[in-house]
Amino acid sequence: MSASLLDGNKIASEIRGEVAAEVRTMTAAGVRPGLAVVLVGHNPASEIYVRGKVKASEEVGIHSEQLTPPENISTHALLDMVRELNGRDGIDGILVQLPLPAQVDAKKILLAVDPAKDVDGFHPMNVGFLSTQRPGLVPCTPAGIMEILRRSSVAIAGQEAVVVGRSDIVGKPTAMLLIKANATVTVCHSKTRDLPGVCRRADILVAAIGRAGMITREFVKPGAIVIDVGMNKVSERGEFERLFAGNAKREETFRTKGSVLVGDVHPEVVEVAGALTPVPGGVGPLTIAMLMSNTVKAAKMRRGSRVPELSRA
Ligand code: GUN
Repeated sequence: MSASLLDGNKIASEIRGEVAAEVRTMTAAGVRPGLAVVLVGHNPASEIYVRGKVKASEEVGIHSEQLTPPENISTHALLDMVRELNGRDGIDGILVQLPLPAQVDAKKILLAVDPAKDVDGFHPMNVGFLSTQRPGLVPCTPAGIMEILRRSSVAIAGQEAVVVGRSDIVGKPTAMLLIKANATVTVCHSKTRDLPGVCRRADILVAAIGRAGMITREFVKPGAIVIDVGMNKVSERGEFERLFAGNAKREETFRTKGSVLVGDVHPEVVEVAGALTPVPGGVGPLTIAMLMSNTVKAAKMRRGSRVPELSRA
């Protein structure tokens, strides 16, 4: 048997369509949602992500601005930039692309973003709202994972969910959302004893570790739903062989580009899992779709309207 693939592109496109319809209604009523993306310096991966965010904004009709301060900007100057955006009525969402250069105090910057405009959901106030089950802005990738599960009719309540990875951006908020959806949640990390054994308990397994193909078949209970949040570039031949030996299509990519993109889940898991998100084309597209959704949500919340999606989140 082979796992069914959970198509992130399709789900993200559905959500973007819904967001675009809301943006049209809001714009017609004189309130066009606005998003500001701050990209410090020239990190190539960040530049690609930010381009995607700006492009998606255009597609759904959200006003977007890109601010690109130099790599050597001080914490103080970046704080001033964030505060200026906090004060602008036309900006509903502020996103500071991470990672920030070493001289910038990232925690100070994230704390300075107005929680009502914090479309990344990284401000401690939104983190607290999420962990105490209050309405607020939820980090985009975890929110996207929940949309994949819901829109694929995966049962969550009462299920065993195991999250591998405890980051502030993915692991922890995903665990909070799964708790809220009444799953029984275990969070694992590098010090977890018998990681394969713990993972094998999972009906829903979320891999957010950042290590190419680490989740092999012995981590997966037959029929489990596997969500792969990883995005790893593999450019070493031995590592490529461990993951994709005999895969002609990937071999072609590896030969022409010198690398392939792979998740945290080993491709062999497709033979064991019940359903699986592919990489690319799984969780990735949802991150941007949920950013669009969060920007609309922030625009509504700031104007005091009740947001129906909040009851879902
Ligand atoms: N860098 C990697 N992922 C993210 C994200 O979700 N938001 C921001 N701001 N930066 C990131």
